[in-house]
Amino acid sequence: MAFSIAGKTALVTGANRGIGAAIVDALVAAGAKKVYAAARNLSDLAPLVGRHGGRVSALQLDVTDATQVAAAVSSAPDVQLLVNNAGVAAMMGGAFTDPQWLEAGRKEMDVNYFGTFGISQAFAPVLQRNGGGAIVNLASVASLTNFPMLLGYSVSKAATHSLTQASRMLLAAQGTQVYGVYPGPIDTRMAEKIEMPKTSPAECARAIVAGIESGTEDIFPDAMSQGMGSAYLSSPKGLEKQVAAMVASA
Ligand SMILES: NC(=O)c1ccc[n+]([C@@H]2O[C@H](COP(=O)([O-])OP(=O)(O)OC[C@H]3O[C@@H](n4cnc5c(N)ncnc54)[C@H](OP(=O)(O)O)[C@@H]3O)[C@@H](O)[C@H]2O)c1
Repeated sequence: MAFSIAGKTALVTGANRGIGAAIVDALVAAGAKKVYAAARNLSDLAPLVGRHGGRVSALQLDVTDATQVAAAVSSAPDVQLLVNNAGVAAMMGGAFTDPQWLEAGRKEMDVNYFGTFGISQAFAPVLQRNGGGAIVNLASVASLTNFPMLLGYSVSKAATHSLTQASRMLLAAQGTQVYGVYPGPIDTRMAEKIEMPKTSPAECARAIVAGIESGTEDIFPDAMSQGMGSAYLSSPKGLEKQVAAMVASA
């Protein structure tokens, strides 16, 4: 079902940079009435607020802090579209036996899975009161098969994907639409060490907004994710073997 952004009020987590900031820009361009731009440090939001004036409100929100999540619900009771964008990739590369995967993996699960789940739980009643609304979760192509360079991150994004499915099934009854976004490499600080062609955050954000507006539940917002997405949909095992071959030849 299509979800029209014009006139709606949205909240975007991790909005101070990267894909999050670009999503705020794209939502404003699509006619959103108001966007709460949420970030850990309010001062990081100054450029975004400066760019959009009264249509963007800055909100302090660490997605792992339950007190701040509750405060965000009080400050933003009119939200109709929740974009769970905040995310971390805490470790890149390492032997399977490297003990640092465990510590990094806990951080990744804390933000990418538990953070997304906690905010969605807190805002589900708000969305219901405001007519149903929509939730958008930033997953990844790494949700669909593990990329061992980003071992723990991939695990956490598989959890985000599974949470997206559960949210869609359980919130359908209250009229909340749930979208999963599965980007490939996007040119942000998170991907600065990845040496592959990358899509700009602005292009990615425009594709996300187009996907929401057309009611596309699984959004593949760039060329690489579109290729991997169709490979996954035709054969999940085939995609795993494709990545395994890349790993073996590296
Ligand atoms: N870039 C890619 O290639 C790519 C591909 C697939 C999916 N994604 C996903 O897209 C989303 C955005 O990533 P990005 O590429 O824009 O990365 P980024 O430039 O590193 O930005 C990450 C954002 O998340 C915020 N964040 C991290 N931990 C947080 C916390 N505990 N509470 C609130 N905010 C927190 C960061 O805030 P601070 O500035 O305070 O650290 C920052 O605003 C993530 O979920 C990521 O996993 C990215």
